[in-house]
Amino acid sequence: MNQVIELKHPLIEHKLSILRSKHTSTKEFRELIKEISTILCYEAMKDAQLDPITIETPIQKMETHRLNEDKYAFIPILRAGLGMLDGVLSILPTVKVGHIGMYRNEKTFEPVNYFFKVPEGIENREVILLDPMLATGGSADDAITLLKEKGVKKIKFLCIISAPEGLQKVTEKHPDVEIYTACIDDHLNENKYIVPGLGDAGDRIFGTK
Ligand code: PRP
Ligand code: URA
Repeated sequence: MNQVIELKHPLIEHKLSILRSKHTSTKEFRELIKEISTILCYEAMKDAQLDPITIETPIQKMETHRLNEDKYAFIPILRAGLGMLDGVLSILPTVKVGHIGMYRNEKTFEPVNYFFKVPEGIENREVILLDPMLATGGSADDAITLLKEKGVKKIKFLCIISAPEGLQKVTEKHPDVEIYTACIDDHLNENKYIVPGLGDAGDRIFGTK
């Protein structure tokens, strides 16, 4: 699975240990999701193409390179993906943003799509898809499929915690999509929650439970 990039860094493990704890407050949970998302985005942009540009420093002209943010779109999967948006916008603040609404049916665990709105010209943008949790992979698979149906050719998926089951499903169905994850956890439980995981990401970000 060399399309899966797991961030292995002591600071990530440190931050994840606070994020996962059931004693962590909503405020701190949100801040950590944002911080880890920024780091995931840095990693995901390491192959970004830059355009040549001439600028003038206070000393002299120089040839350098810039990223054209118009070539990208950030798309959080609602709700929990919204928690990652501030983090990625903090480093690429002018990238256009789309939204895909998905929730898991509590009995079948199948994703249900309830909203889809993406920036104009999406077929010409690289999409950075955001969702903190990749569990069965159903939501990610459906979101990626919807984007491909709209003509999107390059997609990267950023998630904080992933399960081997979901990674297997998404990599098999979408071998062209790179997945950047802060940690690959052990397995899914009988309710399809990631173990050890962090619980319900949406509820913890929005304080709904
Ligand atoms: C969570 C999470 C993912 C999905 C992952 O969303 O944010 O979208 O579950 O599970 P899967 O890989 O098995 O599809 P949830 O359905 O809880 O909705 P929410 O973000 O609105 O809370
Ligand atoms: N969605 C979550 O928010 N957490 C999980 O562990 C699985 C799906």
